[in-house]
Amino acid sequence: MRPFLSFPFSFCHCLGLLVLTHSIYAVTVYPTEGIAPTTSLVPGAPYHGPAAYNPVTLNIPAAPTNFPTQYSIHISNGAAPPGISIPHFSSFFGFSIEMSVVDQVLGLSSQLINVPFLNLMANIIRRSGRVNLRVGGNTQETAVMVQNTTSGRLIEKDYGNTLGTTKSPALEYKEDLFYLMSNISNSLNVRWFLGIPFNKTNPFQLDIAEKGQAILGDRLIGLQAGNEPDFYAMFNKRPANYTVWDYYNDVGNLTSQMNNNPQITNRSMLLAPSVATGMWAPEVVWNTGFIQAYSKYLAYLSVEHYPTDNCAAHFGAGAVNNPETELPTYLTHESGVNLVAPYINSTNIAQQNGKPFVMFETNTASCGGFSGLSDAFVAALWALDYGLQMAYANFSMALFHVGGQNDSYNPFTAPPRNQSSYHEWTIGPIYYAALVMAETLSNGSQVLDITTSANLSDQSPAYLIYENGSPARIALFNYVTDPSNGHNVNFTFSFDDPSPTQVQVKYLRASSVTQKGNYNWAGQTFGGYFESDGCPIGQESIETVQCSGRSCSVILYAPSYALVFLDNNALVGFGSGPSATFSTSAVTNTRTLTVDSIVLATSNGNRGLFDFGHLGATSRGSLVNGATGVMHTSCDAILLACIAVASMILLREAA
Ligand SMILES: *[C@@H]1O[C@H](CO)[C@@H](O)[C@H](O)[C@H]1NC(C)=O
Ligand SMILES: *[C@@H]1O[C@H](CO)[C@@H](O)[C@H](O)[C@H]1NC(C)=O
Ligand SMILES: *[C@@H]1O[C@H](CO)[C@@H](O)[C@H](O)[C@H]1NC(C)=O
Ligand SMILES: *[C@@H]1O[C@H](CO)[C@@H](O)[C@H](O)[C@H]1NC(C)=O
Ligand SMILES: *[C@@H]1O[C@H](CO)[C@@H](O)[C@H](O)[C@H]1NC(C)=O
Repeated sequence: MRPFLSFPFSFCHCLGLLVLTHSIYAVTVYPTEGIAPTTSLVPGAPYHGPAAYNPVTLNIPAAPTNFPTQYSIHISNGAAPPGISIPHFSSFFGFSIEMSVVDQVLGLSSQLINVPFLNLMANIIRRSGRVNLRVGGNTQETAVMVQNTTSGRLIEKDYGNTLGTTKSPALEYKEDLFYLMSNISNSLNVRWFLGIPFNKTNPFQLDIAEKGQAILGDRLIGLQAGNEPDFYAMFNKRPANYTVWDYYNDVGNLTSQMNNNPQITNRSMLLAPSVATGMWAPEVVWNTGFIQAYSKYLAYLSVEHYPTDNCAAHFGAGAVNNPETELPTYLTHESGVNLVAPYINSTNIAQQNGKPFVMFETNTASCGGFSGLSDAFVAALWALDYGLQMAYANFSMALFHVGGQNDSYNPFTAPPRNQSSYHEWTIGPIYYAALVMAETLSNGSQVLDITTSANLSDQSPAYLIYENGSPARIALFNYVTDPSNGHNVNFTFSFDDPSPTQVQVKYLRASSVTQKGNYNWAGQTFGGYFESDGCPIGQESIETVQCSGRSCSVILYAPSYALVFLDNNALVGFGSGPSATFSTSAVTNTRTLTVDSIVLATSNGNRGLFDFGHLGATSRGSLVNGATGVMHTSCDAILLACIAVASMILLREAA
């Protein structure tokens, strides 16, 4: 047992501004068992808490010698060059939420939606217009819908019945899960993927398809048919002789059962084969004639893949991978290039068959990722480069995985359930990558990797983003850490006439690639452990670079990512933001926070993002109606959010 360590009590970033501190501090802080978060460790002291809050930092890899720090690149105004990607949606980068933690992430029920989660999605939607989320993963395979769970909770795990290496517990879920998802989509443009459990095939358990379609309607965009079937035999989910033909027949069996089920109204939204490219390359599946046989049922072709795994540390299975030696392999452009290479044949095949090709589940390393790597700045740079590389190679979507407290790679982590009344959320590097990606790609963007053609270093890659056939933005990376600035890279871009007279630059920065938390996107951050209500903190800062003689120079700090806007129009285009009203409250074991009504952020329309000089500028309606508890959450201004959170507490104190 570890006592609760003294910890900055950060219910609100601007707590000090409020006179409400008394009632907030009245919250009892309990000692916690084995689950105490801490922000620092005595060097060498073992950490026993959940991986999501492991404060370990890795050693910063040495800065390379002979690292070029000056590049000159010419950008032609002409038509998009050959090899450029297909057009993409701004919502390219989404999230895959492990089904067993859906109550921690989304909320405890359809009426208890997590407000920080809504804020996190709203930030992205203000840029992209839409977020694609998958609920599923290993734990979907045994998921059973029940009228009620023994505990009454939305999700219940049966630890007596676990499957395979990842020890996924059998899962029971209530129908309310679909209403929870539906209520989220009522307020924000969130679209969902679900997965059909594949552990029983005769008959398949199709409640998830029936109820999912009935309750979510067109907000349900896909149903996964088999999760990593190439591992079914190895992970003892099926007999050891389960082959690709068995999988082919399972999908055939599924389609005929769906055809005979009048409650399934949409039979053409399957997503498959989701091979992990462990035992079967996608071609192994294509060679069965899978696409032709099931074309009319398939809305998406999919794979799932992680570069490596940390299963030895988590489950005692497989080779031990040392994060210190893994770290440098994530600090290269080559990482994304190599990850994508095995799929280029398949993205071409998908295009020929008119199907989007989706990376349905990925992250830094399977089995939870590596502490110090998956939860450090390196992961943000890596995920952006890998994401852009997937876009360049004609994937149409990439979903980064969200697990629970025991995982390091989470884009966002809710506080442990019994600490949710006094702790806020922890925002990981992958969330920053998602937010930045939503600004990097607009609807219709085409992506060109110029790292090879411009002869750039593997540690300072670059992409051009085209819009309507012309270059609109440049994405630049510097993977090196050097506080002396000796490894800053100066990119000089020259243009045809008419050249921009100035360009605008937004940076994603941290002091080192191993920094944990407090990353900075154009002046804003989501803080460190337990510090976020889902709203960015700080004033947005966009740098303006004056050009001269048709050339503009942009500095890439070591380390950083820069998004260079060639056209001022690239800064706008977020249109009207989400606007909705619904009731929610948040319940924890220790106390209840009740809010009668939440009005989500509403954007002011044109240029909403920039008019007020900070991310997510929104209408400034009434803030808090103490009498009825009406609360407007938005990331409008952090003060407003703080008042809202504080009022949630006061409401309860009064109740
Ligand atoms: C929170 O839950 C954990 C895990 O169940 C338990 O060990 C811990 O004692 C609980 N803490 C509080 C404050 O209830
Ligand atoms: C991009 O397209 C999607 C799908 O049509 C749409 O939902 C979204 O609002 C669009 N985004 C923007 C910023 O217009
Ligand atoms: C949220 O879900 C519940 C079902 O539990 C439903 O009664 C309620 O109307 C929903 N709210 C909205 C705004 O959709
Ligand atoms: C691409 O996949 C098809 C279908 O599996 C296969 O026949 C072909 O050989 C593959 N091409 C390459 C270059 O791998
Ligand atoms: C992506 O698709 C475009 C359009 O079909 C094609 O020109 C390009 O070569 C493809 N990229 C890759 C890496 O296959």
